[in-house]
Amino acid sequence: MKTRRILITNAKGGCGKTTLATGIASHYASRGRKVRLFDHDSQGSALQWYKRRDEHLPEIAVVDASRRPDNHMTRSWQLRVPPGTDTVILDTPAGISATELAGMLQENDFLIIPVLPSPIDIHASAYFIRDLLVIGKARKKQVHVAVVANRVRQNTLSYHALERFLFTLKIPFVTSLRDTQLYSRAFEQGIGILDLKESRARKDREQWAPLLRWLEAGQETQEPTSTVTPLFSREQA
Ligand SMILES: Nc1ncnc2c1ncn2[C@@H]1O[C@H](COP(=O)(O)OP(=O)(O)OP(=O)(O)O)[C@@H](O)[C@H]1O
Ligand SMILES: [Mg+2]
Repeated sequence: MKTRRILITNAKGGCGKTTLATGIASHYASRGRKVRLFDHDSQGSALQWYKRRDEHLPEIAVVDASRRPDNHMTRSWQLRVPPGTDTVILDTPAGISATELAGMLQENDFLIIPVLPSPIDIHASAYFIRDLLVIGKARKKQVHVAVVANRVRQNTLSYHALERFLFTLKIPFVTSLRDTQLYSRAFEQGIGILDLKESRARKDREQWAPLLRWLEAGQETQEPTSTVTPLFSREQA
């Protein structure tokens, strides 16, 4: 199986990048995949998550990629992907520019952009995504881009504004995740929400399913995703 690279990004802070990165990492590790998670954020949130992880849980290699290596290690060694790695996940920091991100992208990467449904977040994310599309296009990178609406409370005005925003950009809107304390509980245990007991996270399992399907489908076809799949019709917006 070819190594799959998944980048979780948005210049906006606090939108759920680390939550998604760690959740995806834990999910694939529990499926027996060899996962390597690069924490590019100097806050080290993914590393903090990993420290809480029970040693008996499936192993995930977590790399502090925000810290430049010392004299004994080159940057390329630090960022290496050992043979046999199935899944590489990059958790990126808030404030990252579209240019910086474009420099990190490789052919066939999966780019997940979590967005919170508040007017300020939508505005900031819109600028970020537009910049990224312009730069991405210029560089002709074939990447699979999708947006995940995070901490959604349905039927709020801001939620519908988010949907319209994605529709105009023709970026697939793969799923929306509800606002629930289960995410911070999972974080405290160094696991993902999908690792929680079936009964508690049933709703969340359903909400994650389209994201996991999108990742798997892209892996099989190697075709960049370009269709728009809004979760709700425009009439409802
Ligand atoms: N769907 C959700 N429901 C409830 N809380 C959530 C949800 N998603 C994320 N959170 C919480 O929101 C906070 C910010 O999430 P997270 O750290 O994943 O964002 P981030 O984008 O990585 O932030 P930063 O830009 O600082 O790196 C965390 O406390 C996290 O537990
Ligand atoms: Mg983070």
